[in-house]
Amino acid sequence: MPNHSLVSSLQQRRQHLAQIFDAPVILWSGTAPSRNFPANTFPFRASSHFLYFAGVPLENAAIRLEGGKLELFMDEESPESALWHGEIPKRDEIAQTIGADAAYPLAELDSRAANAATVAVQDIKTNQQQSEILNRPVAPAHAAKGIDLELAKAIISLRLTHDAEAIAELRKAAAVSVEAHRAGMAATPTAKTEAEIRAAMESEILAHDMSCAYSSIVTVHGEVLHNNQYHHPLQPGDLLLADVGAETAMGWASDLTRTWAVTGKFSPTQRDLYEVVLAAHDACIEKMRPGVEYRDIHLLAASVIAQGLVDLGILQGQVSDLVERDAHALFFPHGVGHLVGLDVHDMEDLGDLAGYEAGRKRSDRFGLGFLRLNRPLQPSMLVTIEPGFYQVPAILKDPQTRSKYQDVVNWERLDQFSDVRGIRIEDDVLVTEEGTQVLTADLPTQADEIEQQF
Ligand code: GLY
Ligand code: MN
Ligand code: MN
Repeated sequence: MPNHSLVSSLQQRRQHLAQIFDAPVILWSGTAPSRNFPANTFPFRASSHFLYFAGVPLENAAIRLEGGKLELFMDEESPESALWHGEIPKRDEIAQTIGADAAYPLAELDSRAANAATVAVQDIKTNQQQSEILNRPVAPAHAAKGIDLELAKAIISLRLTHDAEAIAELRKAAAVSVEAHRAGMAATPTAKTEAEIRAAMESEILAHDMSCAYSSIVTVHGEVLHNNQYHHPLQPGDLLLADVGAETAMGWASDLTRTWAVTGKFSPTQRDLYEVVLAAHDACIEKMRPGVEYRDIHLLAASVIAQGLVDLGILQGQVSDLVERDAHALFFPHGVGHLVGLDVHDMEDLGDLAGYEAGRKRSDRFGLGFLRLNRPLQPSMLVTIEPGFYQVPAILKDPQTRSKYQDVVNWERLDQFSDVRGIRIEDDVLVTEEGTQVLTADLPTQADEIEQQF
């Protein structure tokens, strides 16, 4: 049975695209790459641009959009596939589910491909088909040219802000991520390793028939920013950083981080630095509203962190000078966040085209170069706010860095905080007409409240 609200949202998205882009568009869903032999594949994940207009994760399918109409191209399931994978609905049933105007076998796509724009998919096999069917090279999405670049810009203008259907999905993903974090906290007192906590968290996501929106980070080495190892034992005195987010079956993501103590209780030094990160998190969310530049939110986080570190005696000097010299980035080397949507870092397949307003480029400053979003906020954008404090040996032990910042860092004082390797607090924040709504707000951020979970 078609879901009328989904179909009407999908039809509106197609109409909106037709209003701003007048060439035909073909979007491919892609296929699951094989791991080591063809029948053993990585899990299938449809291209997000396909999902945005098609709504359901069909494998090895394509849609052609023109004038607000959608044609679906996919082959009926072979008897062999039905034997091994079970029966799937017929092409015409799927067409009805997604409100397609027509449906054909894939072989028909060739005759409907003239002058069509596309976005390159990630999997190589389908990417080759894109070039063959369009009869021209299709550059990787981040290097799109000509009509494909114009299409990318049109899709970005739609996907930057979310419609009601998308927001409902994003809320579901956020709610399950919150449950996963609660499960992680609940598992901590009896867990021996990071892996056991990861298992408890991902179990919650899987039990809701969702998947992880990205590789979970569950680690006592939070200073390794994208740590995907889970073998470390949990020791009293460790902080555990858990960055785990769910993705709904329709592909909508969430991105959530909390940091808690393995014993359930922060040490005084851990609490001091936790409060610095939390102050930055709260100040950023407080300041967000439509029209505010996200870069200014990042710089606000940098200033609050610098101020907090001055107050603790780790940094010395004027906060504005410290931020101008990127001294905050010694401890907070990444950006304050990014767009969230169908991708956890939404539309980063297009490089910085989505994250950066036209005419803006990445800064080469240490304290700004990792900023992934540099646009004014708009109602219905979803972004993360994720300040952190890390002691990264590659930064803090580098002789050149130490000499450059010799006058502003009190290294002996910093040594007293050696039980803090990494803290991050990350929430998913929806920009509203009046300000913001934190979709992940049900998970506490206050140190006391986190301790009370134990
Ligand atoms: N989970 C990756 C990130 O926070 O950006
Ligand atoms: Mn994030
Ligand atoms: Mn994250």
